[in-house]
Amino acid sequence: MARRDLKNARIILTGASSGIGRELTIQLCRRGASVLATARRLERLQELEHVCHNLPGKIHILAGDLTCEKHRQAIVDETASRFHGLDCLVNNAGAGAIGRFDDATSDRLRKVMEIDFFAPVELTRLCLPLLERGIRPAILNIGSVLSHRAVPNKSEYCAAKFAMRGWAESLRVELARKKIEVLMLSPSTTRSEFLESLVETNADEKSQSLGSMSSERVAQLAISTLVRSKREMIISLGGKALVWAGRLFPRITDRVLGRFA
Ligand SMILES: NC(=O)c1ccc[n+]([C@@H]2O[C@H](COP(=O)([O-])OP(=O)(O)OC[C@H]3O[C@@H](n4cnc5c(N)ncnc54)[C@H](OP(=O)(O)O)[C@@H]3O)[C@@H](O)[C@H]2O)c1
Repeated sequence: MARRDLKNARIILTGASSGIGRELTIQLCRRGASVLATARRLERLQELEHVCHNLPGKIHILAGDLTCEKHRQAIVDETASRFHGLDCLVNNAGAGAIGRFDDATSDRLRKVMEIDFFAPVELTRLCLPLLERGIRPAILNIGSVLSHRAVPNKSEYCAAKFAMRGWAESLRVELARKKIEVLMLSPSTTRSEFLESLVETNADEKSQSLGSMSSERVAQLAISTLVRSKREMIISLGGKALVWAGRLFPRITDRVLGRFA
């Protein structure tokens, strides 16, 4: 399949104010894309606008909470009036939570599902008419290794990321008829603000993981996923090992993960 050209591509990118989303916005602007970058923190988006100012692409910023229906509609209205169509939607915004399920309130599950599942799904629904008018349109979902193999103490986050993957798998087949591609990138632990922005998590809760990647590297791999139209990509050796261990030796994997927890 021919490579996707990102020059002049019209892109919506959520979660642009930090981590993977911020790096990805910069790399897309370097390649000449027009990016509508969104997140809640306006001052962070303004700083990003400044950073991208002299790059070949264009950045437009729009601050708001993605779990709010009005903000999702505002993103779509802004895209329609500026771009008149959409070539790529990057569902990147997300937040995690750490801790045992039996210690948590039902609020934590609701909050995690809102930002990691319902928000990207409902934004996608609103974007479909614009994507139908796009050039080689694609939806890129930022999942996680935990979309493929769940671990203890992150039940809400794993559930939301599994849900995203299941929804995307179904959508991929439905949208093939309209020539809208559905792609998924699944990072492992990434150095970002993720662990500082956890939902309803005690300060003493720790995340256990082996190694980590920079947001810049994950953004490079997200670009490669888009350019080469990779359906699903798990991006670290440790992540692949966890997923394959879980498939081939599920009981042993459960026991090992239980010890970590
Ligand atoms: N870091 C990891 O280890 C890791 C591993 C696997 C997958 N991922 C996934 O990678 C994606 C990006 O995460 P990251 O590591 O770059 O974390 P991050 O630095 O915390 O970035 C998360 C982004 O999402 C935005 N966001 C969060 N809640 C929002 C809301 N309610 N409305 C609008 N925007 C919201 C944040 O912006 P505001 O706070 O300004 O709204 C921020 O820009 C997430 O989907 C995450 O699940 C991360």
